[in-house]
Amino acid sequence: MKNIDAYTHTRGESIYLDDIPEIAGTLYAACFDSPLAHGNIKYLDTSAAASSEGVVRVLTFRDIPGINQIGGIIADEELLAAHQVHFCGMPVALVIATTVQQARAALKKIRLEVDPLPVITDPRVAAGKGELIVPPRSFSMGDCSAAWRDCDFIYEGQANSNGQEHLYIETQGAYAIPGENGVIKIYSSTQSPTAVQRAISKVTGLPMHMLEVEVTRLGGGFGGKEDQANTWAALCALATNILKRPVKYALSRMEDMRMTGKRHPYSSDFKIGLSKALKIIAYDVTFYQNAGAAADLSPAIMERTLFHCTNTYFVPNARATVYSCRTNLPPNTAFRGFGGPQGMFVMECAIATAAEHLGITAAAIQHANLLQTGDELLYGQKVLSEASACWEKAVTHYQLDQINKEVSAFNNQHRLQKKGVALMPICFGISFTNTTMNQARALVHIYTDGSVLVNTGAIEMGQGVNTRIVQVAAQTLGILPGRIKINSTNTSRIANTSPSAASATADLNGHATRIACNTLLNRLKTVAAAALNVEVEVITIREERVYVGDSMSLLDWTQLVLATYNQRVSLSEHAHYATPGLHFNKALEKGHPFAYHVFGTAITTVTVDCLRGTYEVDAVRLVHDAGNSMNPLIDLGQVEGGLVQGIGWMTMEEVVYDAEGKLRSNALSTYKVPDIYSVPKIIEVKFLETAQDNPGILRSKAVGEPPLMYGIGTYFAIRNALRHFKPGTRPAFDAPMTPEKLLINLYPEEAAALDIRQQEIPGLQMLPAT
Ligand code: MTE
Ligand code: HPA
Ligand code: MOS
Repeated sequence: MKNIDAYTHTRGESIYLDDIPEIAGTLYAACFDSPLAHGNIKYLDTSAAASSEGVVRVLTFRDIPGINQIGGIIADEELLAAHQVHFCGMPVALVIATTVQQARAALKKIRLEVDPLPVITDPRVAAGKGELIVPPRSFSMGDCSAAWRDCDFIYEGQANSNGQEHLYIETQGAYAIPGENGVIKIYSSTQSPTAVQRAISKVTGLPMHMLEVEVTRLGGGFGGKEDQANTWAALCALATNILKRPVKYALSRMEDMRMTGKRHPYSSDFKIGLSKALKIIAYDVTFYQNAGAAADLSPAIMERTLFHCTNTYFVPNARATVYSCRTNLPPNTAFRGFGGPQGMFVMECAIATAAEHLGITAAAIQHANLLQTGDELLYGQKVLSEASACWEKAVTHYQLDQINKEVSAFNNQHRLQKKGVALMPICFGISFTNTTMNQARALVHIYTDGSVLVNTGAIEMGQGVNTRIVQVAAQTLGILPGRIKINSTNTSRIANTSPSAASATADLNGHATRIACNTLLNRLKTVAAAALNVEVEVITIREERVYVGDSMSLLDWTQLVLATYNQRVSLSEHAHYATPGLHFNKALEKGHPFAYHVFGTAITTVTVDCLRGTYEVDAVRLVHDAGNSMNPLIDLGQVEGGLVQGIGWMTMEEVVYDAEGKLRSNALSTYKVPDIYSVPKIIEVKFLETAQDNPGILRSKAVGEPPLMYGIGTYFAIRNALRHFKPGTRPAFDAPMTPEKLLINLYPEEAAALDIRQQEIPGLQMLPAT
């Protein structure tokens, strides 16, 4: 089935936050954010801004009636800076004016003086000073200290991965509208309406039942709106609460890039030990997570780094520790993979290090250690593994031998162009790592004309969850998809929602929908059985007709719905789903946190221009485990999109903060995301065919995040090509491998002579924020 949004998307008719028709009297907000990364506020003067043309009010922390606090996991984040600023881009004041232009113009009249304090941008420096968000956390299994004795080869190293800008097409924003008796309705571009509702409740002091959060869809979230939509919604609601007027704020791209957090950069130390048979005997890893200035979701993200630190390999003796380090950057946040990619990248660096020292391919080590069914991961969960199935299928289906031969032949024939190949097997756990969050609800109404309205907590952000929920309802009720409408997501209809995240949205909300529809179906069947004078057990509904056994009855869907209504039987149902079997003991750091795991293997081929340092991704060919895919077309889109986003993170996307904590890559002119010219020339996706069962909705496995991690393969394919050009070279693991960095690695002596890394680029100036 095609994505139900395809038609309005392609016609430009889909409604996003900024498309909502505005109510007369709507005011517009703009945020004054800190130009300094750290310091004590000496003096803040908003009077000139307040008397600026069109300005209705300027709000500071003093105007907050509730608490000045939006921290979700830890209460360490002020909505508006009170006495200190902690990062460049931290909200300090909010201007509300009659037009957007007037609000933005008034920002320039705000005077802020800050007594600077030392700025930390490096997580290792922060850790050295004891600047941690939460105490460090460790997972372990086996005996990592003793196991080194049993290793034939031991290697150590360091790996760095950088941040990543979400670059959702729709920027952050909110629109708050006052109702009677002080209630507020908030439209928000958020993955988590309940988080928005909770944040506003804290800031305004209003109980949650007075706050209605409504979301039709997002123009992308990618994790960036799991927690960080709260700020803008809380600011608008605060203003509405005070002014009793509708207030809207849709961020400009540069405001969004400057003020919001990104994927966490990590700096990590690893030590890996192997046997002669290439079995990984021991792995010890320490991660320094750059959390930014407040916790945000960092404690949950560091946890997922631990869960995924051995990727898809069985490692009998493993120890992993994460330090979540407080720095003076915008609070870093969820981003597709949620700390998993950062953990997996280091494991792949460790394997590459061993392979390069041993003079073998990384694939030889990867293959020798793939998880098998029954193997235990370092957090105690035993896996039902498809790792080998995906790997073997990829190797045979895409003829890896042939690919390798062609690459060798090419490399022999070309001096200044080299190709590289890398395999990237993945394993990703599905469920929120916080067990509590694995719950959802659905409210299904059948109207007397036979049409069906489904409400859930799921947010549609382009990933196709609404289409999946239509499929679930249609299949369960035995009716056509066209009869079903998915309602916007609204906290007054579905309460206490978990964010649409962790790739689990369709599973959680889909199962809740299935349960509600099944209850309704049973009621309808009971009415049908009585009307047809047969036992309930023989009734089915297929293609909108009532069947008795195999024979079609005279009753159709609409007649049955009407009959059910006439008998005063409810045509509405609210159902609850909680993923069964999940548990995790944080004292032991052991348990069964995931409903299941998703597997896959990608084979990446690249060509590097060894004169210029540029590269092209020739092909990514992969086998992906989608279980029994309920929508291969949507799954394909998710695999392709995730892959390209992962390639971007590993190659061209470079978040740059200077030593003062100012974002240098603050616009699309200085931050490069993959475009149509830089995506792989060939992407081939094959879904694994398997008889293995899984508890995903309709046996279809979650697909949102895992494919991003195939992108890691591109990093190593480029590295391998570089090593064909300069045999024996082992540059530092420092992702992303931008063309500039690759050029330096191709010609390190020349680069050192020119002292390229030290040079300031003359004339480079920050673009003014508009
Ligand atoms: N796909 C699109 N088009 N837009 C998005 O914002 N977010 C990703 C992924 N795919 C995203 C996306 C992230 S971070 C997650 S967690 C999942 O979708 C969330 O949706 P799901 O749980 O329905 O897979
Ligand atoms: N994944 C994504 N988002 C989350 C998680 C998770 O495991 N936990 C809390 N938010
Ligand atoms: Mo996705 S990072 O779990 O929103």
